[in-house]
Amino acid sequence: MRKLVLATAALATLGIGSAAIGQSAPNPAVKARQGLMNNYALNLGVLGAMAKGDMEYNAETAKIAADNLAALSATNQMLLWPEGTDNASIEGTAALPAIWEAGSDVGAKSDALTEAAAALAATAGDGVDAIRTGMGPVGQACGACHKSYRASNN
Ligand code: HEC
Repeated sequence: MRKLVLATAALATLGIGSAAIGQSAPNPAVKARQGLMNNYALNLGVLGAMAKGDMEYNAETAKIAADNLAALSATNQMLLWPEGTDNASIEGTAALPAIWEAGSDVGAKSDALTEAAAALAATAGDGVDAIRTGMGPVGQACGACHKSYRASNN
């Protein structure tokens, strides 16, 4: 009997414990979109290093990075941005509520990146000048969305 009581108490403790963990654990959609963003940054970083001359231009690597950016930005991102995952509602995100507000043009800003990344991918194998030219609109597309929709202190 005492054992049963203890087991029940332990379960209750576990239940409360996991509820508390559930609240503080990173939201999977937030984790996934931050992962996507970091993947963008990794690939753009390689191209940026070549554009600046910090890394020797290599057509194959440039093409891989640009193709990755194009493919990543072309994925449907609907599931990454569920309502209620803005930085006013939960911890651990820099996504501003404006993303979900009426009049939000976050979709258009996302499309602008998809277009710019496709154009970059089409020319990234053509030499360092081609990546310098193609990266401009890509960087602008990243920056324009961050300016409107990402909290600057993150
Ligand atoms: C359509 C809007 C949009 C575009 C386009 C966009 N971002 Fe973001 N980015 C965001 C938002 C919103 C966040 C905050 C996400 C969060 O914390 O939940 C973010 C966060 C990030 C982060 C921080 C991730 C982390 O670990 O917290 C990096 C790095 C980043 N973006 C890089 C990029 C790069 C590089 C590009 C362009 C190739 C880009 N982003 C394009 C909206 C965008």
